[in-house]
Amino acid sequence: MPNPPQYALQAPTTTGPAWADWLQLCTGAALLLFMWAHMLLVASVLLGPATMNALAGLLEATGLVQLGGPCIGLLFLVHCVLTARRIPFRQLEQRAIWEHARLLKHRDTWLWLAQVASALVVLVLGVAHMWTVLADLPITAAKSAARVQRWPWTLLYLVLLPMVELHVAIGFYRLGVKWGFISSRRRPLGVKAEKLLLVVCLAIGLLTLLRFLTLSVE
Ligand code: HEM
Repeated sequence: MPNPPQYALQAPTTTGPAWADWLQLCTGAALLLFMWAHMLLVASVLLGPATMNALAGLLEATGLVQLGGPCIGLLFLVHCVLTARRIPFRQLEQRAIWEHARLLKHRDTWLWLAQVASALVVLVLGVAHMWTVLADLPITAAKSAARVQRWPWTLLYLVLLPMVELHVAIGFYRLGVKWGFISSRRRPLGVKAEKLLLVVCLAIGLLTLLRFLTLSVE
């Protein structure tokens, strides 16, 4: 019978991992804030295409889209590289983490797995989305609606939206637990906040997609 795999825990010998953790926190928090702002800006189409066009026009006139867009892309990639340190890519690691999750039967371990799985989807679809939008400026409600109505973009948004919202809600909860603002005493409250966040953001996102799907693109 083969020997069971050994997982040796080694104490870090430099401050590198602490810096990487800190940067991971900062990039994660910055992306969380961006995603909430992005959700509200895109949802402005619910107030009418003219409102979305006016907001997009303002952001473009101030250069925020042209400059901020690539910066968000960079932030997104840095965050991916930093978090990839923790993702079990090797089969042996995947088997170990799966066994641990089944053994522990702890909600937070399953949440972590859901966050890793959603991260991989968000990485691929998110990059495709950002590239297409930024390569086709200016942003207008009509152009966005045409894109959302075109297959396979409809499918992309229907998959990307729940994956992003799941990732963001779990990310918010895990940031709170890890950095102490959701203490063990406040854990039930943290779980409720996470669920509420998921439901509200998903509802706003779905309504936005529905509006794009029904908007005339003539
Ligand atoms: C680089 C900055 C970004 C810009 C300028 C941008 C812009 C837009 C625009 C204009 C739309 C409307 C649909 C369309 O035109 O295709 C949209 C929708 C959407 N975007 Fe982005 N986006 C950016 C980054 C991201 C990122 C990083 C994500 C997540 C990984 C994301 C996720 C979504 C989702 C899920 C929708 C669907 C609409 C919703 O339900 O909110 N976007 N975005």
